[in-house]
Amino acid sequence: MRNKGAEFVWFDGKFVKWEDATIPVMAHSLHYGTAVFEGIRAYGTENNLFIFRLEDHMKRLHRSASIYCLELRNNVKELCDATLRLAQKIVMKRSCYIRPLTFVGLHGIDLNITKESPTHTVIIIFPFERYFNEEGIRACISSWRRIHDNSSPPLAKAAGNYLNSVLATQECKRNGYDESIMLDIHGNVSEASGENIFLVKNNKISTPSIASSTLEGITRETAMTIAHRSGYNIVERPITRTELYMADELFLTGTAAEIVGITHLDGKPICDGKEGPITKKIREMYAQIVCGRVGEYMEWLTPVW
Ligand SMILES: Cc1ncc(COP(=O)(O)O)c(C=O)c1O
Repeated sequence: MRNKGAEFVWFDGKFVKWEDATIPVMAHSLHYGTAVFEGIRAYGTENNLFIFRLEDHMKRLHRSASIYCLELRNNVKELCDATLRLAQKIVMKRSCYIRPLTFVGLHGIDLNITKESPTHTVIIIFPFERYFNEEGIRACISSWRRIHDNSSPPLAKAAGNYLNSVLATQECKRNGYDESIMLDIHGNVSEASGENIFLVKNNKISTPSIASSTLEGITRETAMTIAHRSGYNIVERPITRTELYMADELFLTGTAAEIVGITHLDGKPICDGKEGPITKKIREMYAQIVCGRVGEYMEWLTPVW
């Protein structure tokens, strides 16, 4: 969303016109990446606009903030209510992306962020549709390693972490791929620049554990729940690069990407180079769930209207 996405944003408890929601050039977060954020999707259907796992995202925002001692002045319920009220205020009825962001404001060049440092929270909503091609994507292994827990905690969805993703994305796009998979510092598979990764081999599903420097994705957990309830065994374990080339299926999960198969890795087809049956099953189930068409998953949805 490079242009105006809606009439209003929510800024520190108030609705502010999109063009008036600006920050000073000395905002600390602009210089040092001291911000945490979330990416949430809402799905417009003939019945309603459904926000997917709103509370879980706001809880993660709080956890990310706490790692960096960023004071988040609104509790999870207040943030969820603010999101709902903003969607209603801008009369959002179509599928959209929701971006809550908590950032450090004017704090000079002092790196000692404490609970007393000035923070601001903004919630932005804009229309959003598909991110990747549904039929599957071509990925590569990045030459950039995923950030490690001993330097920049991957479990925190912090703005500064995304410089690592930017480098990996630039490299993959330069080389004509859709997405990059990063290895962790030990050389095991970690995750993509903005998604978690799953591997299917002999009907068994594996995904790197959080010890492989992954973000604990909410779509990852959703896919694991769908797979588990569909009778598949899912293992969280270290995964090697070669296992990816030898997989029957590979797929990515993420709020923006949703669930998408990797059909080729480093130019080599994965199995027959088409979306695999287990990926398809989970992807299709996910698409039904987010639109409120599966009763047992309705608790994950917040209707706006
Ligand atoms: C680095 C990274 N990994 C994984 C994910 C997937 O997380 P989620 O499913 O919560 O969107 C994201 C997206 O937010 C991400 O940026």
